[in-house]
Amino acid sequence: MGGRIEERVRHAKVPPLDLPHVLAPFRREADRAPFLEFVAERPLHLEIGFGRPHHLCDLAAQLPDARVLGFEIRRQWVRAADKRATREGLDNLRVVEGDVRPYVEQLLAPKSLDAVYILFPDPWWKKRHHKRRVFQPEFIAMLHDRLVTGGMLIVKTDVEAYADLIVDQLLDAEGWQLAGSSYADPIIASLPRSHREKKCVELGIPTHSFRFVTEAL
Ligand SMILES: C[S@@+](CC[C@H](N)C(=O)[O-])C[C@H]1O[C@@H](n2cnc3c(N)ncnc32)[C@H](O)[C@@H]1O
Repeated sequence: MGGRIEERVRHAKVPPLDLPHVLAPFRREADRAPFLEFVAERPLHLEIGFGRPHHLCDLAAQLPDARVLGFEIRRQWVRAADKRATREGLDNLRVVEGDVRPYVEQLLAPKSLDAVYILFPDPWWKKRHHKRRVFQPEFIAMLHDRLVTGGMLIVKTDVEAYADLIVDQLLDAEGWQLAGSSYADPIIASLPRSHREKKCVELGIPTHSFRFVTEAL
């Protein structure tokens, strides 16, 4: 399938989910204003690829005064997030079904985010799949621009070689400081665990966690 991601999204045949915590700002004209209103207030936290929404929903419950926005490609997890948000009255949570990149590029203003969470991203090892990786220099630069100075990026993975690659990429990019790693970091320790993280703990699989902070360029 070719073409720009947002064009493909707009012309997708399956209609967007019509659920209280789901917004589809590229697909439903009526969602554009509510989305822009939601992201206009801070603190704003963004989770990319939340999967089973354990961390996303726990974070929204932990931070009732913040707004939490999640992106996920897979519809079943978007539905699951909405279901839990409805059940628990998580009014500070909104989710979008789709690839996060065009939304960050086109709909988030510079310095609008306080924190970004990318937890256990798919490593996409095959060279022809590298373009699917979230960790790409352009996207890292865009996240830096959208985060406030002193904003944080939390990254976790259970793939050691991918952890090395991510850390190298962020340290090679301008404006990122590694502020903490592993559960020894009090902020990392205080965060909810994602589904994959819980599985790793249960199975004794080591995980790598990093907290990066943005510096002014
Ligand atoms: C390995 S799973 C991890 C899920 C969850 N973060 C966890 O720790 O349990 C990666 C998730 O990221 C989602 N994903 C991958 N690329 C994405 C993108 N560009 N935008 C939004 N979601 C994405 C996938 O659909 C998948 O659910």
